[in-house]
Amino acid sequence: MTQDIKKKNSAKAAFELIKPDLNKDSVLGIGTGSTTNYFIEALNESDIEIKGAVCSSISSEKNLNPSIKVIELNEVHSIDFYVDGADEFNDRFELIKGGGGALTREKILAYSSDKFLCIVDDSKHTDLLGKFPLPIEVLEIARSAISREMMKMGGKPVFRNDFITDNGNQIIDIHNLLIEVPFELEEKINNIPGVVENGIFSNRKADVIIKAKSEEVEVLEL
Ligand code: 5RP
Repeated sequence: MTQDIKKKNSAKAAFELIKPDLNKDSVLGIGTGSTTNYFIEALNESDIEIKGAVCSSISSEKNLNPSIKVIELNEVHSIDFYVDGADEFNDRFELIKGGGGALTREKILAYSSDKFLCIVDDSKHTDLLGKFPLPIEVLEIARSAISREMMKMGGKPVFRNDFITDNGNQIIDIHNLLIEVPFELEEKINNIPGVVENGIFSNRKADVIIKAKSEEVEVLEL
């Protein structure tokens, strides 16, 4: 079974899981990426009526069927379910996100949600976060200064060429970081001036991991 089919299976399982709880007052949070696009596909194909969706990127907004209302986060009190993929996850449901560059908005939506469902295939599992280069969204003027700080922490910063986030900022991908205590590193990186956000999701981690394997889809809850 290909990774792509697993992504689709995970996304479909997430949709089936939350469908019975969706109604015309429901606000859905929708992330970004190829796995999330399969979730959007399932939502678009259904005839379910919801209040609307808050998206973590302009690209996800564009993929939504026009019958689904796009809502700004400022217009709602909270998000009922936030559904998004990840680049890595561990057994404590901590994540690395931001491969698609939408990490800042993703973290904001995850924080604003009652339930965060993370849709992944089994290849994303790791015991120690950091094999996937950690994305950091930065203000352009601070890019070199932040890169130097990340080198002091043992990482190898690589500037993401030709990429600007939906917030108008740049991304540095940090290779070779051993993220032994994700909670501490998330805070430490965010304390460097000029960092907008980093892709460690430990303060607000996933509530549910929906992991597709070759034979089945597992729904894991802490
Ligand atoms: C985007 C993300 C994505 O969720 C992450 O990169 C996983 O992407 P995909 O589902 O395409 O494997 O964090 O910023």
